[in-house]
Amino acid sequence: MPAPYYITTPIYYVNDRPHLGHCYTTLLADAAARFQRLLTPDDRSVFFLTGTDEHADKVVSSAAAHELSPQAWADRNALEFRAAFDFMGCAYDDFIRTTEARHTEKVVGYIRELMARGDVYLGDYQGWYDETQEEYLTETAAREADFKSPVTGRPLVRRAEKNYFFNLPRYQERLLAHIGANPGFIAPEARRNEVLGRLREGLQAVPISRAVTADPGSRWGIRMPDDPGHRIYVWIDALFNYLTAVDTPERAGYWPARVHLIAKDILWFHAVIWPCLLMALDRPLPGMVYTHSYWVREGRKMSKSLGNFVTLEVLKAYAARYGLDAVRWYLLVHGPLGVTDADFAHGRFVEAYNADLANGIGNCSSRVTAMIQKYFEGAVPAPPESGLVTGAPASVDWRATCARAVAAAEAAAAQMDLAGCLRAGTDLVSAIDRYIGETRPFGLAKAMAAGGPTPAQAGLQHQLATILYNCAEALRIAAILLSPAMPGSMGRLLARLSVTLDQRVPLAELAAFDGPAALRPGTRVLAGEPLFARADPAEAAPAG
Ligand code: MSP
Repeated sequence: MPAPYYITTPIYYVNDRPHLGHCYTTLLADAAARFQRLLTPDDRSVFFLTGTDEHADKVVSSAAAHELSPQAWADRNALEFRAAFDFMGCAYDDFIRTTEARHTEKVVGYIRELMARGDVYLGDYQGWYDETQEEYLTETAAREADFKSPVTGRPLVRRAEKNYFFNLPRYQERLLAHIGANPGFIAPEARRNEVLGRLREGLQAVPISRAVTADPGSRWGIRMPDDPGHRIYVWIDALFNYLTAVDTPERAGYWPARVHLIAKDILWFHAVIWPCLLMALDRPLPGMVYTHSYWVREGRKMSKSLGNFVTLEVLKAYAARYGLDAVRWYLLVHGPLGVTDADFAHGRFVEAYNADLANGIGNCSSRVTAMIQKYFEGAVPAPPESGLVTGAPASVDWRATCARAVAAAEAAAAQMDLAGCLRAGTDLVSAIDRYIGETRPFGLAKAMAAGGPTPAQAGLQHQLATILYNCAEALRIAAILLSPAMPGSMGRLLARLSVTLDQRVPLAELAAFDGPAALRPGTRVLAGEPLFARADPAEAAPAG
């Protein structure tokens, strides 16, 4: 049996309300997990984890501003994150919260282990601290950023404290060797180069604790083992979530994670500190740390000061107008998956909606189902013997075309190129459209209607049946390939073809043209409302 596909998202700070950025990463993981479940549909083959990071100091301050205890505030916001991901249709297998005992207890155990191995020790620390991001910057990074937070622009502060340190430099060579031997470990490549560049500057020990002071706020966090005067630095606590969630007898075999999905803001922690912690604990390293870029809005960076976040309310308004699957589609296919930022702009949304969905899969499925209604009384016509239309103006080897589409989708998904994975589905839709254009089934039907029952007529009838069988069967496969992005509407499309998707059959068989799961002649095909009605490019953006 292949190793399980364990995929994670960052765990999000609970001081903020969920917005597009958080929904995006979790949605990417959802689509990747859904695709992998198609590949190997067995209960244990895929595990998708998301959750919340709750021990940050800013949780204490925002809780105070709302006159709540940090825990009560975290409880409330963790629910909001869950609700947001549920709304987005993300089928996570577990939602971890760092205030849960199952997490905190294990974190203490890992730190003890690191201490026992001599990788964690008490020392003095002085450095430039970014209060908004809760992280220290190296001297060089602080200077380059003009002593301001590179993320929020707030001035850095000079801080001195007694801290526990993790001996990061001890693992530098091993990390470099690992990155060298595993080119896909840090992806995309530009991020790998970025990390390698910074590694050349050398590593320093990292503080992994914060002092507990007279300030009651400093009590928030997990205490260092056997030293209540220190709590574990929130970032170290948070990174361990990936392991604590699956470090149980029932989930044995899930570690190492196949993919950690993150954005560019938290690359260093995931590509350097986390792997070194794992090496120190003698645990295998994750297969891939995949970093995406940022969403901006209408060309401008989203920020608190501009107050221009694409909030969950905005996403809900788009879903109410265009359907949730259209929102999922836009984010997945037109988002910042690689190294360039992407714009959440209304014009772009409508353009993608019309081109990919209304005029793409939507129109194609309407055409095919309507023709089967009209010419075959809504029953799948008999399949061709060879999968080819002989004598027609165009012949397509559908078995090979569909097999290629499935292979292309699988190869793209392995590289986390989810847009490419889904393009395999839309390319198949285009192939069906082209085929209809070339074989002109409506023309054949007209010619048949004009003549009487002659042998030539029977030939036309056979050709028409062959063409429409091919279209319907290829449409079934396109819908399967598109379903990780659009489970709802592709489920509806498949239902119109009398197919239920949750067959316990691996994709290679499920999506084989004319294979074991193929459309059977005589099955009912329903035409219906368009799956995606065309949108007017001039219409106003839905307001959230
Ligand atoms: N709690 C830490 C992560 C700990 S992981 C062990 C954290 N949380 S966060 O709430 O700030 O979330 C950051 C993540 O949210 C990014 O890495 C990315 O996944 C997502 N995004 C936040 N804003 C984003 C955009 N504007 N665009 C795309 N995704 C972004 O950092």
